[in-house]
Amino acid sequence: MIVSVEKPNATQAKSAEQAQPDANKLVSNDQFTVPQNNAFGNTFRDYEVGARTDKVEQHYKASHINQTYDFVKKIREEYKKLSKAEMGIWECCELLNEVVDDSDPDLDEPQIQHLLQSAEAIRKDYPNEDWLHLTALIHDLGKILVLPKFGELPQWAVVGDTFPVGCAFDEFNVHYKYFRENPDFKNPKYNTNNGVYSEGCGLDNLLMSWGHDDYMYMVAKENGTTLPQAGLFIIRYHSFYPLHKHGAYAQFMNEEDKKNMKWLHVFNKYDLYSKSKAHVDVEKVKPYYESLIAKYFPAKLKW
Ligand SMILES: [Fe+2]
Ligand SMILES: [Fe+2]
Repeated sequence: MIVSVEKPNATQAKSAEQAQPDANKLVSNDQFTVPQNNAFGNTFRDYEVGARTDKVEQHYKASHINQTYDFVKKIREEYKKLSKAEMGIWECCELLNEVVDDSDPDLDEPQIQHLLQSAEAIRKDYPNEDWLHLTALIHDLGKILVLPKFGELPQWAVVGDTFPVGCAFDEFNVHYKYFRENPDFKNPKYNTNNGVYSEGCGLDNLLMSWGHDDYMYMVAKENGTTLPQAGLFIIRYHSFYPLHKHGAYAQFMNEEDKKNMKWLHVFNKYDLYSKSKAHVDVEKVKPYYESLIAKYFPAKLKW
C-alpha cells in the first residue's frame, strides 16, 4: 500500500514546473566561508560533545520511541485542517523568536537570527535565486508548533532529524538504538526495507516523522504558494539527514526527487553553517524579504 499525500493540483503543478530553476545554471559569487566551529566552539552536528549533548540525546530518545506510523497519520490529519491561526509570513517570523530548539547542538539564540543568517548568506552567493532566499527565510517557521496557540507540541514532535515511518528505520538515523522501543520496530507491516511503500514511489508518497518541516510544507502548499517545487522540496526534507547526508532511504526517490536533491545540498550548507554569532540587522533587511513574501505568498495564510 502506498500512502498518498500532497498531490498538487494541475494549475499549481504547471506553474511550479515553469518556474523550476536549473541547478546547473547557478550564478554564484560563492563568498560564503564555512566556519570551523558552532556558537559553542564545537564542530557542527557533533552529538557526542558539548554542553547540550544530554538534552539532545533525550530529545532523540523521545522522538524515536513516539514517532509511529499511526501517530504521524493522525497528527497530519489534524494539522491539515489549518485551523490554528491566520497570519502573514513575516508575522510568523517574529512569532518564532520565542522558540529555542532543543534538538540542535549548534544553535542557542533566537530563531529569527538563524532564518536571516541563512537567507542572507545564500543571497550573497546566489543573488539571482530570490525563491531560494525566501525558502531559507521560511524553512523553519513550522517550529511555532511548540507554542500554545499551535498545539504546544513536545519538541520531539517539532524538531530534529526526520525519517520515514511505515518502513524499517535505517541505522544512519542518529541515536538509532532508541528505535528498538518504538512499537513499529517489531511490526512486520512496517519493519521491512520498503514497508508499506515501493521502490521509486517518490518521496512525496512517504509519511515522514512529524515535525516543523512537514508542517511548513503543508502550510505553504495549501495556501497556494508560487514557490518552485525545489523550494517546497527543501522545506519538506531539510531535516531528512539520513537521506541527504548518508543516502539512506534513497530507493524511494524518483527522477524529480533526484533533481531537487541538488538544491537541498546547496541549501543545507547555509542552514548548518550560518548558525554562528554573525548578527543580522532585522529592520535593515526586512523590506527586501517583505517584497519576496508578496511575490510568492498571499498576504494572510491559514496555519
Ligand atoms: Fe529546520
Ligand atoms: Fe534551519
